[in-house]
Amino acid sequence: MEGYNPFSLDGKTILITGAAGGIGRATAIECAKLGADLILTDINEDGLKATLEQLDRPDAHRYVLANLTVDEEIDRLVSEIGTLDGFVSNAGVTKPLPVKFINKADLERIMSINAMAPMYLTQRLLRKKKFSKNSSIVFTVSIGGVFTTAFGNAMYGSSKGALQVFMKNVALESAYNGIRCNSVNPGMINTGLLKPGTYSEEDRKKDMQTYPMKRYGEPREVALGIVYLLSDASSFVTGHSLIIDGGKTLY
Ligand SMILES: NC(=O)c1ccc[n+]([C@@H]2O[C@H](COP(=O)([O-])OP(=O)(O)OC[C@H]3O[C@@H](n4cnc5c(N)ncnc54)[C@H](O)[C@@H]3O)[C@@H](O)[C@H]2O)c1
Repeated sequence: MEGYNPFSLDGKTILITGAAGGIGRATAIECAKLGADLILTDINEDGLKATLEQLDRPDAHRYVLANLTVDEEIDRLVSEIGTLDGFVSNAGVTKPLPVKFINKADLERIMSINAMAPMYLTQRLLRKKKFSKNSSIVFTVSIGGVFTTAFGNAMYGSSKGALQVFMKNVALESAYNGIRCNSVNPGMINTGLLKPGTYSEEDRKKDMQTYPMKRYGEPREVALGIVYLLSDASSFVTGHSLIIDGGKTLY
């Protein structure tokens, strides 16, 4: 049994968006350790370089800089990609605002990055037949908007709710082709997603107490869920939402 590892990603080529930090970087680190060859993309080049430096077998990976809200940049990204065995659609942004104070510019930006861009990129990859016969797509969704509601979360939650529905439709329409599609749905994770100053330290600590595990998650704890969905260990799993939230949705 030496070397037995059903979660191995050996020989798989995987595209990861939002790979310049947080959950995307942690996913890249774990995927590289498990043998995958990676194509990383993000709008932040310094962050992409920093991720690359932390990967096992650096020569096996590369990055493509792209702003995923620009259709031409998605088209360029897709044209630079060969066959994929995995795709982690992970880039995302948030800006908490009560409904009364929502403005169209923020709404369009959040919908564009969190929902429209993953949908269009997935469409292009499918249309251009970039996926191998045994491939896996994973969307980083959220518990917010899908399983929970919170004050100020209307824009972000709506974008993630839309992505969740899209995930299930991709799963349904692609299963016959050997392409699986799932989501991870994290609770609060310690990353740079929330701009410093959005919440006070006191509010963060109070919010952590609403989690049965009394803490927020770490990026690696989400990355390992993504690894499961990318690997052949989940070969009969599609259209599934893997909640990774320290029990937050138990209440
Ligand atoms: N951190 C959390 O608490 C949490 C919880 C649930 C879901 N998520 C989701 O996890 C995903 C990763 O977020 P994170 O927490 O690691 O935050 P993060 O800010 O570290 O990562 C998001 C990445 O997306 C990239 N990005 C933003 N706009 C882009 C664009 N237009 N084109 C290309 N790349 C762009 C950013 O540069 C950044 O590297 C997001 O989809 C987020 O919504 C995060």
